[in-house]
Amino acid sequence: MASVLVTGGAGYLGSHTCVELLSAGHDVVVFDNLSNSCEEALNRVQELTHKSLTFVQGDIRYQDEIDQVFSDHHIDVVIHFAGLKAINESLETPLTYFDHNVVGGTQLLKSMEKAKVFTLIFSSSATIYEAIGDIPLHEDVPVLSKNNYSYTKLITEQMLQQIAKADSRWSIALLRYFNPVGAHKSGRIGEDPQGVPNNLMPYITQVAVGRRKKLSIYGHDYDTIDGTGVRDYIHVVDLANAHLCALNNRLGAKGCRAWNIGTGRGSSVLQVKNSFEEVTGIPIAFELSSRRAGDVATSCADNSRAVTELGWQPQYTLEDMLADSWNWQKQNPNGYN
Ligand code: NAD
Ligand code: WQD
Repeated sequence: MASVLVTGGAGYLGSHTCVELLSAGHDVVVFDNLSNSCEEALNRVQELTHKSLTFVQGDIRYQDEIDQVFSDHHIDVVIHFAGLKAINESLETPLTYFDHNVVGGTQLLKSMEKAKVFTLIFSSSATIYEAIGDIPLHEDVPVLSKNNYSYTKLITEQMLQQIAKADSRWSIALLRYFNPVGAHKSGRIGEDPQGVPNNLMPYITQVAVGRRKKLSIYGHDYDTIDGTGVRDYIHVVDLANAHLCALNNRLGAKGCRAWNIGTGRGSSVLQVKNSFEEVTGIPIAFELSSRRAGDVATSCADNSRAVTELGWQPQYTLEDMLADSWNWQKQNPNGYN
């Protein structure tokens, strides 16, 4: 069993990963500044697993704060979720995004090197793919920065690749997530976006719970099955489990390698909306509106590398994702508040 430092562990993906880590018997130290999360998520992680974790409130941009974690705790592996993730915000405040995501990442690496911890799992994103030709997207298709957020992911990936090339002590996994949705089966933890959701799934569940009037479907003239955008939605628990597989893989390996974390199945916006209505029995008011700037028609993973090399296999269907998203939203209409 390993002792795992989870940066950003109080957030949406981090909290679900902590549940799986604790359930598998690992020790967990969470380091999070709570800028987009709350401690209640961690209370619930412990309640669900009947295990305790260590929480340290701090910011990855401040070296002394991370150094302190490594001197106070024995750490074998770092799973690095901490960072900012709103594309629109990244266009308005690029410096803030580079500071948290790139400078923060660099500070973390320096602390790891000092503490002689060389195993890292990094939260990357399918947003780095050019996504205009090859579908499904294989790890080797061209990558491109489309906005400041994806640029921070691309820079960090490239930095990690160079570091692992120059110093053979490093063992790094780049996990490129497609569209994470859903929630833990219990409905106790889930996605809790601040303000108006940017992403489709929380928008739909907030319409269903009465917090938003109607869904705007961004674009209905794409070259897809019904004209609306197609994405590869992946259940957050499947995604969390991919981190356990990556951890097992990296503990016995060297170098830096990227893996797609998606199901390999695409669903259109209309298919998601219609399936949500079927699964929950709740009608979703909607309007067809114009395309959202920066969106692509289709994004879908070739996940064969993760399946073969990590021994990872996603278990959940789109219907499971919708039912679990709704279960969380219905039990927590205002999120953790
Ligand atoms: P989230 O906002 O729920 O979690 C991120 C956590 O990091 C939050 O708890 C936040 O408080 C913390 N944090 C932010 N800046 C920090 C800092 N400087 N120091 C310490 N803690 C800090 O986001 P999420 O959806 O759980 O995403 C986790 C990671 O996965 C992010 O790096 C994100 O870019 C990446 N990712 C997310 C998605 C997605 O759709 N959710 C897709 C691809 C990649
Ligand atoms: C999905 C589909 C929209 C909202 C983003 C980031 C990506 C990753 C995951 C972090 C698209 C449509 C959406 C709405 C809609 N995050 N839509 N009405 O854009 O694929 O990916 O989140 O790394 O980097 O780009 O996800 O959920 O925003 O959109 O019609 O109110 O739903 O146009 O086709 P996206 P999304």
